[in-house]
Amino acid sequence: MAKPKTAYVCTDCGASALQWFGTCPSCGAAGTLSETIAERGLARRSGAAAVALDAVPAREQERISTGMAELDRALGGGLVAGQVALLGGDPGIGKSTLLLQALASFPPDQVVYVSGEESAEQVALRARRLSLSAGGVRLLAETQLERIVPALEAARARVAVIDSIQTLWSEALQSAPGSVAQVRECAAQLTRHAKSAGTALLLIGHVTKEGAIAGPRVLEHIVDTVLYFEGESHSSFRLVRAVKNRFGAVNELGVFAMTDKGLKEVGNPSRLFLSQHEKPVAGTCVLATIEGTRPLLVEIQALVDTAHAPNARRLSVGLEQNRLALLLAVLHRHAGIATWEQDVFVNAVGGVRINEPAADLAVSLAIVSSLADRPIAAKTVVFGEIGLAGEVRPAPRGQERLREAAKLGFEKAIVPRANRPKGAARIGGLEVLAVERVDEAVRLLRDL
Ligand code: TYD
Ligand code: MG
Repeated sequence: MAKPKTAYVCTDCGASALQWFGTCPSCGAAGTLSETIAERGLARRSGAAAVALDAVPAREQERISTGMAELDRALGGGLVAGQVALLGGDPGIGKSTLLLQALASFPPDQVVYVSGEESAEQVALRARRLSLSAGGVRLLAETQLERIVPALEAARARVAVIDSIQTLWSEALQSAPGSVAQVRECAAQLTRHAKSAGTALLLIGHVTKEGAIAGPRVLEHIVDTVLYFEGESHSSFRLVRAVKNRFGAVNELGVFAMTDKGLKEVGNPSRLFLSQHEKPVAGTCVLATIEGTRPLLVEIQALVDTAHAPNARRLSVGLEQNRLALLLAVLHRHAGIATWEQDVFVNAVGGVRINEPAADLAVSLAIVSSLADRPIAAKTVVFGEIGLAGEVRPAPRGQERLREAAKLGFEKAIVPRANRPKGAARIGGLEVLAVERVDEAVRLLRDL
């Protein structure tokens, strides 16, 4: 096969050059030229025929269980034939372990595991350490794309894993493995194969410190599904979260605990993100949140301390930084609580990341509690969005949040007025206190 011609295209302005330059000859941007395979001449073909949407048979696709219910949950019910999914995460977080463990349960010859990072012995050793009977998994320790694709074609597997996409290289390109050009080309070829063979393809990709999948960021629109495997290095909990899924809902969370025998599924994670305090502690507030379809109780911690620099610091971990600034402004304007001479730190316990605005009220009350150095009454749970006018807005699926809190033995809930259950002011042993404004919630805290 003749070697395809390559060109260098500027990712900013789209200009192309025949050789690599440090700065784009056209727009002058630095480091934006990236290698691509030059397009061959376009031949005119007979046009493709468009069909009526009604005439297309719409079949519900059969799901392939990965062998781990929590991973299936994050995938929206399992894999689909021909699906291409990217599993991103920090190095060492447990991506290889997760996939090897999940796929070990498949019947013989249905899974091909392409290992570009570890030798066959290393993978076998890992399987042994995890006591997996992974005899059904076929292993291919290879990094060259042109050797992998024919091997996959011959194997006709139901599921194939590429560990990792950054180690693969195609001889069509001169760039080093892991470069944007290589990652994009290898993924495109593998995707073509997966779609035509009906193999579900799982690509492992490493994430850089900035949170972008290095190189593979460009893959996000090629693949059907993007999963992130995350967790704090010092915590043993690991979360799989879908951020894009053509075959299911996103933000469904799969929860695992890491052990020396591999990952254990955590089927009921709702109390996982609560820390165990003997007595109530100032600056903590339990939030009832919803992750995907599951209610989850998460402890929000705040630390408010006198600032020693001219610019007070605002820092949030697991919560949105800009949202924190907004909440502090609302607290000042509508509840008379000033923090401009204070450093404010907030944190969601257990390495969980919370994106929903329904966390606002819990974050605000944790801040108020820390500032006043007064704990919130034990067994109190909070949720609700805060608007710029100081109003407390309803959160979606309030009843589910309340029921979960009642189930876990919480006794009081501070919630938006519209989320109060109709008729009764309690659910089981949970007394529901409704508020309309943020200052009302702050006053309520003092009376509890
Ligand atoms: P590994 O799966 O190699 O991470 P990644 O592929 O994301 O780089 O896991 C990293 C290390 O952690 C490895 O030495 C095995 C260990 N580990 C456990 O001991 N128990 C576990 O449950 C997991 C997930 C990993
Ligand atoms: Mg690995």
